[in-house]
Amino acid sequence: MAAIVFRGLTKTYRGTHAVDNFSAEVQPGRVTGFLGPNGAGKSTALRCLVALASPTKGRTRILGKRYQALKDPQKRVGVVLDSRGFHPGLTAYQNLRVLTTMGAIDKARIDEVLAEVELSEARNKRVKGFSLGMKQRLSLASALLGSPEVLILDEPANGLDPAGIAWLRSFIKGQADRGVTILVSSHQLAELETIVDDVIIINKGKLIASGPVAEITGGERLEQAFLRLTGGGLS
Ligand SMILES: Nc1ncnc2c1ncn2[C@@H]1O[C@H](COP(=O)(O)OP(=O)(O)OP(=O)(O)O)[C@@H](O)[C@H]1O
Ligand SMILES: [Mg+2]
Repeated sequence: MAAIVFRGLTKTYRGTHAVDNFSAEVQPGRVTGFLGPNGAGKSTALRCLVALASPTKGRTRILGKRYQALKDPQKRVGVVLDSRGFHPGLTAYQNLRVLTTMGAIDKARIDEVLAEVELSEARNKRVKGFSLGMKQRLSLASALLGSPEVLILDEPANGLDPAGIAWLRSFIKGQADRGVTILVSSHQLAELETIVDDVIIINKGKLIASGPVAEITGGERLEQAFLRLTGGGLS
């Protein structure tokens, strides 16, 4: 069974099709890159997937169910969306404490996930003093709290410095080695190429291609294949 399914997903904003009859699947235990130019509909599709937006048409499934129908969703699915908000006046620890309380998660996980994202030293600092990269790490930490079997990451490399991006690569590989299913959107194609098994490419809301990365690229660099498929390259 696919871990994630988009079936005929359409999301319209005032007549504009942000996502347009989009169907794709994510296979369990694999790292899937979700690619598309700016405005292609990636974040919208992911927001529909985790019930932060309601589809105009079509449906989505995670682990065989609608996200809203999952029991203990934080323990099944970890989500990092760029819009994710933390309380600026609370510390990293306090922000995660709110989430463990909401998700009935053992609070011992907080220090574990802070260590995992290398934020232990910032544990007692207020989030309003965090850099963008620190906030991204805290978002990843929050997604990990429930030790979920699926991770949905929308541009997790945003704001990370080169060392942070290298760290993110090993982080994603480590999660994948533990059998976690990962759907990750990114514009960093050279980076993504080294970590993904499969790719899904979307443009103007529509599916352009999906499948194992080697099948999609046919020996090209992922960036070349992407530009060719989305019409963004020189032809
Ligand atoms: N809440 C909203 N209201 C109106 N239009 C929206 C809304 N959210 C997204 N859109 C529009 O939907 C389209 C898809 O946007 P989306 O953010 O999903 O793209 P994306 O692939 O995530 O782009 P990026 O790579 O820049 O993050 C864009 O045209 C965007 O302007
Ligand atoms: Mg986006």
